[in-house]
Amino acid sequence: MSQNEETDGPPSLRVSRREVLAGGVATAALAWLPAGLGQARPTAIAGTPAGGVPAGPLTSPLATVVNGARIEVDVDNRTSLLDLLREGQGLFGTKKGCDHGQCGACTVHVDGRRVLACLTPAVQVDGREVTTIEGIAGDGALHPMQAAFIEHDALQCGYCTPGQIMAAIACVHEGHAGSADQVRDAMSGNLCRCGAYAGIVDAVLAAAPKMGRG
Ligand code: FES
Ligand code: FES
Repeated sequence: MSQNEETDGPPSLRVSRREVLAGGVATAALAWLPAGLGQARPTAIAGTPAGGVPAGPLTSPLATVVNGARIEVDVDNRTSLLDLLREGQGLFGTKKGCDHGQCGACTVHVDGRRVLACLTPAVQVDGREVTTIEGIAGDGALHPMQAAFIEHDALQCGYCTPGQIMAAIACVHEGHAGSADQVRDAMSGNLCRCGAYAGIVDAVLAAAPKMGRG
């Protein structure tokens, strides 16, 4: 160690400037870590064995009604309602857009209220009633909202359309179809990459009176 690399103080406390700087950089780096990451981590989450695999069953029995038909399945606890419908039940009308709750393409109804199926654990619909785009037409006739989407040219590629229609029906039932501004606001969680928004608003306003609302 050269003379000018040493710091002042008794020999036992002397450290070089390089050592001081290295320590300072390490401290500064730790200060930028998210809370908890700089601390020692527990070896296992409470209630799980040391290997990290949770104790208990990985599947749950699920009994639900989808579009009027009762289904009973054992479902992996991590399965989303969206995957249950598409992969488990072959109901591909409900679309997977972002799979992160951002686009609305996966909108379905649970007990008559709209939900994002990609963010809903399938086990949560146990004992409840699910309606998808496949379940809204009746007696061979389109739902008034489906007919209005066609009449008002409210789609281009159609990928967002099932989610838009399910959200639009809910929007009317919620009493949010009194004006174009209300509709835009209530439908703001449903994105359309094709930009069919003007037609969608027109369709919702046209369908509302036919659904006894608006
Ligand atoms: S797929 Fe569910 S919100 Fe986009
Ligand atoms: S019609 Fe294409 S994304 Fe909406």
